Amino acid sequence: MPVDIAVSGERDTFVTRRSGALDGEVHIGGAKNSVLKLMAACLLAEGRHVLANVPHISDVSLMCELLEAMGVTVTRADHRLVIDVPAELNTEAPYHLVERIRASIVVLGPLLGRFGTARVALPGGDDFGPRPIDMHLRALESLGATFSTAHGDISGTAEVLRGSEVVLEYPSVGATENVLMAAVRAKGRTRIVNPAREPEIGDLVEFLNQMGARIGWSGDRLTVDGVERLAPAPSGDGFRVIPDRIEAATFLAAVGMCGGSVFLRHAVAEHMTMLIRKLTEMGMHIVVEDAGLRATVTQRLASADISTLPFPGLATDYKPFLVSMLTTASGVGIVTENIFTGRFRYIDELRRMGADIRTEGHHAVVRGVERLSGAPVRAYDIRAGAALVVAGLGAEGETEIAGAAHIDRGYEDLAGKLAGLGASITRRRNAAGASVAAS
Ligand code: UD1
Repeated sequence: MPVDIAVSGERDTFVTRRSGALDGEVHIGGAKNSVLKLMAACLLAEGRHVLANVPHISDVSLMCELLEAMGVTVTRADHRLVIDVPAELNTEAPYHLVERIRASIVVLGPLLGRFGTARVALPGGDDFGPRPIDMHLRALESLGATFSTAHGDISGTAEVLRGSEVVLEYPSVGATENVLMAAVRAKGRTRIVNPAREPEIGDLVEFLNQMGARIGWSGDRLTVDGVERLAPAPSGDGFRVIPDRIEAATFLAAVGMCGGSVFLRHAVAEHMTMLIRKLTEMGMHIVVEDAGLRATVTQRLASADISTLPFPGLATDYKPFLVSMLTTASGVGIVTENIFTGRFRYIDELRRMGADIRTEGHHAVVRGVERLSGAPVRAYDIRAGAALVVAGLGAEGETEIAGAAHIDRGYEDLAGKLAGLGASITRRRNAAGASVAAS
């Protein structure tokens, strides 16, 4: 068995009630979107890797299962992962795991980089719409890999990977990660033009460099000088995963919804510059301190227009929280989704709570109402689920959010952390039919 991270019952729900001003301190954990890639990067080197500040979330458990299916041993102690990678690996990622965690496509690059062969089940679509990997494949082909598909799997081979100029027509996070993890073992120099610049990419670059890779930024390009061999990063207490800016955004939104004053320990302002600007425009008072951020809200928020963009723009992952906040802000906000155009399904759920939202294509027009009204709703993905929780904290009466398992994929004890700030939220374990205090 890989790890002891509890995966919630399929039918668990969160139950929220209108909450008064939030108050206190919340600890922001390690970033989901970084740790999953760092785990994949470990495949590049035989030996013992140690990761610290690893969140207890079910996506990490699934990634552990995937690594174990390849022959890796993973053990967990508190918020650390010890990942023992043997000399030989099974270089196949099976469908039953890939379909549960689409980020697993990032094993393609490291497997090709180290073994010159990989077979990964093709990820299907999800609630955001299709998840194409054409840019991943084109980037890896630039290094000399060739691909074929059969029976729902993609097989890649590369006799030798050779450094080259890789131009990404769009700064895809996953494609940048895959090509980086292959290029570190290619012969010669790779230049990645138009890479993603998200903070999680910076974390991966730092981790790979600690493993012996030679990656640098020249302007907004990434330059990778391939090396013969990589080794686990010097462990000490383990490589510390960066704080999760999306979790931080969730708590900022909760303060925006309920009012109050909360300190977000470990939240990193430079990772969230645009978000902080936008929330300030809406009337939140955010102070950057050494150890985190303090957010204070004393009045009803004002609406603002929102448009998602690759980093350093406003992240698509923040958007559901911003929409929840707009539902009760004064005025009208126009929201434009530029990354995942299908990412509006939760809006039907917000409408069930009395939100006034019109959608057209990849735009949504949100007209703030005085108050939402609690209703049974369903989470269809991690961030949309958390956004419904945030909305529920501002809604009159009870809101029951089905699909807690989606939220558990990316949040460690969301209910417990919110309850610790004074929010009215419990987790209902529906297998037993009993309601339990958040823990
Ligand atoms: C990652 C994040 C996700 C975040 C997204 C954008 C993880 C596990 N997930 O997803 O939370 O919302 O970045 O910041 O880190 N695309 C193609 N072809 C490709 C690759 C992508 O058309 O080969 C398109 C996608 O459909 C999407 C856009 O490019 O419209 C952005 O995708 P990408 O940046 O690759 O996101 P992910 O790495 O999948």
